Amino acid sequence: MSETMKHTPYVVIGNWKMNPKKRTEALSLVGAVKKNLRLVKTEVVFAPPFPFLGDVHKQISGSAYKLAGQDVSMFAFGAYTGSVSASMLKDVGATFVIIGHSEVRKTGRTDAELNASVKAVLEAKLVPVVCIGESVRDPQGDFFNVVENQIISIFKDIPASAMAHMVIAYEPVWAIGSGVNATPEDILEMKLFIQKTLVNLYGRAVAHKPRILYGGSVNQKNAAEILEIGVVNGFLVGGASLKSEEFRTIIKLTEQHAKNTTSS
Ligand code: PGA
Repeated sequence: MSETMKHTPYVVIGNWKMNPKKRTEALSLVGAVKKNLRLVKTEVVFAPPFPFLGDVHKQISGSAYKLAGQDVSMFAFGAYTGSVSASMLKDVGATFVIIGHSEVRKTGRTDAELNASVKAVLEAKLVPVVCIGESVRDPQGDFFNVVENQIISIFKDIPASAMAHMVIAYEPVWAIGSGVNATPEDILEMKLFIQKTLVNLYGRAVAHKPRILYGGSVNQKNAAEILEIGVVNGFLVGGASLKSEEFRTIIKLTEQHAKNTTSS
C-alpha cells in the first residue's frame, strides 16, 4: 500500500462477531444495508464470520463497500489448525483485518502475538484495525497506562510509513455489548491520549495519520454526539451492525458529519 494512496476520512465497520447463523441471512443483511446508499466520505466495511467472507465479497464487488476479517493468525501458512492467514483473507477479498478485539484477547492472545499479526497484515498489504481499550475505568486513571502499554506493544517495530493507513479502534471492554457507551467527552480525552502516545512513538506529523474509531455500544441514538464531541473518525459497531436500518442510520450520520467537517 503506497503512502500516497487515498482513503476516506471516516470509516464505519460492522463487526458481526459469530452472527448471523446462516449464509443467506448474511447476504440479506448486506443487501439491506447497501440499498440506495451513496457514500463519498465514509468507507463501510463488513466483518462477517470467515465462512461467509467469499459470498459477502461477491455481493459487494463493484461497490464502495469493503470486507474485513475479524481476526488473523500471525503466521503465513502451515500446521495451525483453526487459523486463517492474512494472505488467505486477502485472497477472498478482504482489505481490512480486525486485530486484538477484546473477545480475541480474552482467549489468551498476547500483545506479542498481536504485534506479529499487525506485521503479517501489513506484509499482505491489508489495513489493520487495531483494537485497544481498558477493562475497567478506575478512579486513579490507571486505565490510561493500560491503553498506553497496549499501544506500545502492538506497534513495536511497526514503521512510521505504515501509520498512514492504520485504523485504531478505541473499545473500552466494559462498553462492549453492555448498552453503556463511553461518554463523548471521555472518548475525546482518550483520542487525544492515543495521539499523544503516538507522538511519543512516531513524532507529531505521523501521530495524526491513523483514523481513530470508537467502539462499544454504538447505536443510532449516540452516534451523532460521539462524532460531534468525541471527534472520532467513525465506529466499530457490534450489535447494531446486525440491524440493517440501525446500521444504515449510523452510516448516514457519519457520512453527513464527514460532509460537514471535511473539505472536498
Ligand atoms: P457492540 O460491540 O457495538 O455490540 O458493543 C462492539 C465491538 O465488539 O466491536
